[in-house]
Amino acid sequence: MTPRSAAVVLLFVVGAAAGIAVLGANPPPSKPIASVAPAPSPSTWPDYSLNGPGFVAPAGPQGELVALGYKLVTETFSTIGPEAPDPAKRFAGNNLSCQNCHLDAGTNRTGLPLVGSVRKYPWISSDGKHEVTLRDRLNECMTHSMNGKPLPLESQEMDAFVAYLKFIGDPPAQHTPAMPHPPVLANAARGAEVYARICAACHQPDGLGKRIGSANDGRGYRFPPLWGPDSFNAAAGMNYVSIAAQFVWRNMPRGVDPRHPQLDLQQAWDVAAFLHAQPRPPGPAAR
Ligand code: HEC
Ligand code: HEC
Repeated sequence: MTPRSAAVVLLFVVGAAAGIAVLGANPPPSKPIASVAPAPSPSTWPDYSLNGPGFVAPAGPQGELVALGYKLVTETFSTIGPEAPDPAKRFAGNNLSCQNCHLDAGTNRTGLPLVGSVRKYPWISSDGKHEVTLRDRLNECMTHSMNGKPLPLESQEMDAFVAYLKFIGDPPAQHTPAMPHPPVLANAARGAEVYARICAACHQPDGLGKRIGSANDGRGYRFPPLWGPDSFNAAAGMNYVSIAAQFVWRNMPRGVDPRHPQLDLQQAWDVAAFLHAQPRPPGPAAR
C-alpha cells in the first residue's frame, strides 16, 4: 500500500468509527433509581454504565443519602449547579456533571474512576504541612472542574457525596498503565485538525457543547463544553495537557473501547494541547 492510500484508508476507518460512536452516543443516563438492594461487597467493582445493571440504592438508613449522592454525581447541574431551583444551593459554577469526567458515575475504570477513592484519604499535602481529606479534595473539583464554590464541609450534599463514594466501595486500587509520551512534542495546530475532524461532531465546532434542551432549563448537556464560560476553569486537572491527553485517548469519542483507542497517541496529545490553548474561566487564585 502506498503511504497515500494508507492515509486515505486510515481517514476512512477513523471517520467510520467516529460515525459509529456518534450513533452510539447517549445522553447522560437518567435511569430510574430502584429502591432497595444490598451494599456491594467491598471487593466488587460496580458498573453504572448504560450497559451495566445500573445503580440501586442500598437498604437501610444510609439508602436515601447514597441515592442523593448518586443524583449529585449524575445530575450536578440541576441539583447544585447554576440553574438549580434553590438559589442557596447553586454551588457549582457551570452546568457540567461530575460524571462528564468521572464517567458512569465514577465506576468507569478508565474514565477517572472514583471507586477506591475513599481509601486514599486523608493524605498529607506535598509540603507536609496539612492533611487533605476526601471532602477537601472533592471541593477542589467544585472550585476547579465545576468552576464554583466549595460545598460546606458539614452540608447534606457533602455527606451525600461521601456516602456515595463509600458505597461504590474500595476494591484494591487499579493501576491504569501510565500514558506513553507522544512520538513528537504535542502541537496545538495539529490538534485543531483532530478536533475539527473527530471531536466537533459532538462537542460542536465552537467547543461550547450541545445542551439537551435550551439555556437555563437546568437539564445540562448532551455533549459537554470543552472550553468557554460554562467549562472547567484554568486550575482544573483537565486543563493539564497530560491528564486531558490520557482521558481523551482512552475515552473519546465517548463509547470507544479503551483497549483499542481510536486516536493514536500523537493525536491524543495534540488535541489535548489544542484544548489547553482555548479560553476558559480563570482559576480561583486568579479571580
Ligand atoms: C472537568 C472534569 C472533572 C469534573 C467535571 C469533575 N472532576 Fe473530579 N477530578 C477530575 C480530575 C482530572 C481529577 C484528578 C484525577 C487524578 O488525580 O488522577 C479529579 C479528582 C477527583 C477526586 C479525587 C479522586 C481520587 O481518587 O483521589 C474526587 C473525590 C473528585 N474528583 C470528585 C468530583 C466530584 C464530586 C465532582 C462533581 C461535583 C467532580 N469531581 C467533577 C476531573 C473532574
Ligand atoms: C460521540 C460523541 C463524542 C465525540 C466524537 C467526542 N466526545 Fe468527548 N464527550 C462526549 C460525551 C457524551 C461526554 C460526557 C461523558 C458523559 O457524561 O458520560 C464527553 C466528555 C468529554 C470530556 C470531559 C468533559 C468536559 O466537559 O471536559 C473531554 C475533555 C472530552 N470529551 C474531549 C473530547 C475530545 C478531545 C474529542 C475528540 C478527540 C471528543 N471528546 C470526542 C461525547 C463525545
